[in-house]
Amino acid sequence: MDAVLELRGIVAGYGQGDILRGLDLDVPAGQITCIIGPNGSGKSTLLRVVSGLLAPRSGRVLFSGQDVTGSSPRAMLDRGVAHVPQERSLFPAMSVWDNMLMGAFIEHDRDSVARRAAAIAERFPIVARRRHDPAGSLSGGEQKTVEIARALMLDPPVLCFDEPSVGLEPRARRAIFEILAELSRDGRSVLLVEQNARSGLAVAANGAVLDAGVVRLSGPAAELRDSPEVARLYLGAA
Ligand SMILES: Nc1ncnc2c1ncn2[C@@H]1O[C@H](COP(=O)(O)OP(=O)(O)OP(=O)(O)O)[C@@H](O)[C@H]1O
Ligand SMILES: [Mg+2]
Repeated sequence: MDAVLELRGIVAGYGQGDILRGLDLDVPAGQITCIIGPNGSGKSTLLRVVSGLLAPRSGRVLFSGQDVTGSSPRAMLDRGVAHVPQERSLFPAMSVWDNMLMGAFIEHDRDSVARRAAAIAERFPIVARRRHDPAGSLSGGEQKTVEIARALMLDPPVLCFDEPSVGLEPRARRAIFEILAELSRDGRSVLLVEQNARSGLAVAANGAVLDAGVVRLSGPAAELRDSPEVARLYLGAA
């Protein structure tokens, strides 16, 4: 199976401390890979390493077989890796439309930006309907949809999502998972971090359990979902 991303022996952290402690992970192309694990286990840190926001202290990051270790966020964006962060990241006072356009700030071909924006607005009606409204006036689920629209502006083959469903009510959560499934059906590779392990593994083809900065278990998502160890540790089974 072709891996779009391969992480090998990643050590990374902030200041003195290591958060990721020799992490290995393969992210297959064109599928959803779901990362689960307890709070503080390094899930967001892992996504930051992938999108170039944090350079690993050691280890290697391969993108389509090429060593991209230590690349800047801009370089990873150029290669086609988009990141939707855990915290709300829209500019609340800026319009929905302008927020979406921010996703294409490195693209100078204005026609191509306009074409993409129109296509995305067709796919996500909320973007078209609320285009003039300040992004901060949208519901949590709607804002997350705009963040996804923004991430799609450069047509990235790889998307990293950090807990996209957190804090959303069930219907909005289902809508976000449906979008992720659609992105994968389009052939994009999705690296998904999910607190909601059951729903994350349900939408994913593969999964990995992160614990204290290493991948403790990985494999087909259905197997992880049925694994007694995962259930005991992370799914809150009785
Ligand atoms: N910018 C930072 N500076 C210092 N420490 C940080 C920073 N970001 C995260 N940490 C610490 O690194 C550890 C791992 O954080 P990380 O955000 O990767 O965990 P996580 O698995 O995403 O957790 P959560 O489920 O709460 O989102 C935590 O102990 C956190 O406090
Ligand atoms: Mg996190």
